[in-house]
Amino acid sequence: MSESERLLARAERLVPAWTQTLSKNPTQWLRGIAPAYVTRAEGAHVFGVDGREYIDFPMALGPVILGHTDPRVTAAIERQLRDGITYTLPHPSELDVAQRIVDRVPGAEMVRFGKTGSDATSAAVRLARAVTGRDHVLAAGYHGWHDWYVATTTRDLGVPRAVAELTGTFTYNDLASLDAALAAQGGDTAAVVLEPSGAERPAPGFLEGVIERAHAAGALVVFDEVITGFRLGPGGAQERYGVTADLVAFGKALGNGMPISALAGRAELMELLAEVFFSGTHGGEALSLAAAGATLDALDDAAYAQLYDMGETLRAAVLASIKTYNLSDWVTIDGEAPRTLVAIREPGDPVDGLVAKSLVQQELLRRGVLFNTNNFICLAHSDEDIATAAAAYDAALARLADGLTDGAGGVRALLEAEPLAPAFRPVR
Ligand SMILES: Cc1ncc(COP(=O)(O)O)c(C=O)c1O
Repeated sequence: MSESERLLARAERLVPAWTQTLSKNPTQWLRGIAPAYVTRAEGAHVFGVDGREYIDFPMALGPVILGHTDPRVTAAIERQLRDGITYTLPHPSELDVAQRIVDRVPGAEMVRFGKTGSDATSAAVRLARAVTGRDHVLAAGYHGWHDWYVATTTRDLGVPRAVAELTGTFTYNDLASLDAALAAQGGDTAAVVLEPSGAERPAPGFLEGVIERAHAAGALVVFDEVITGFRLGPGGAQERYGVTADLVAFGKALGNGMPISALAGRAELMELLAEVFFSGTHGGEALSLAAAGATLDALDDAAYAQLYDMGETLRAAVLASIKTYNLSDWVTIDGEAPRTLVAIREPGDPVDGLVAKSLVQQELLRRGVLFNTNNFICLAHSDEDIATAAAAYDAALARLADGLTDGAGGVRALLEAEPLAPAFRPVR
């Protein structure tokens, strides 16, 4: 029995759903092919429990922007560790990191810290409700595990119907769908929450249109920059697209893997957080703040140029393979260069393409590349890593094209494990 299988057998008894995070779970990684656990990582490489090394592209689901074990972040954490982890009163590094965020992020005048992206988006929703005196919210994109958002997905078990009724959705890059959703909430929308750029990039005028319509309806605009923040540039998607939301939620890249998130916005709104309850034992924990300070300092213009260059190189290579193998009906790559997304469909499953996605994951894993559809570029990816990944994608897509000549059954025949399961499906 492999070490992966031995550990999964233990997890089955000890950990419901095996893992703490859906996208680390064996329904998302081919059992028997992917390592079920990772024991170590360095730079852009991770080491699976079965002894194999992989080039990491999911990068821990996005936070690790400088690379694993970045020496600047490690040194900052070690320095702080000698002085303690968390205290009865705040540590001054809260102010240093808040200042860095205010200096970088358009519209940010005040900052509060949390631990997870869900903390930051949920605090934004509560604050928006308090500011507007309204209860309803509208969402587009993924915003974390809390009731107000997860009510809009197929993973809504345990969410009270009364809460679910308060959140509506609209379609990204579709202003008419926002108009309809605002109208359906009849003037009671507190916040329009969206990822400003994600699986798709914003069409010209879309973000401006969202802000204009939300404000006309008396709602606040919350940008969920948990992924895009400090990844698309120092000022995130707001800076890249020249727009300013009312509130902005950050997480992931802020701490290069340490658990820290932030909510930022105009002082006149943020000041109400003195009354609106957003509080936790570990808020302002000093190791994560030390990591955040070192991470933000390392992300200079040259760093962003590198993230974009490498991301565009990988995108161009994947696009070329899609063209070579005539796969444009089934495989697309979109998103911003520092985080592209490879979407895979198949005959009979236009939403997820789970068998085809499984085959691509199988072929990439076989070639030493971790694949879960996200290509998060970090500063430790080398030109050689990108070239290896490009060659692995080419081989994987060639194999997919082979399978597709015999339809969905042909793809399944090439798969050497049970196919992956859906992560999420929106219900409305
Ligand atoms: C855009 C976005 N918002 C919010 C979240 C939730 O963050 P967390 O998982 O840290 O709670 C995520 C997590 O993947 C995310 O991608």
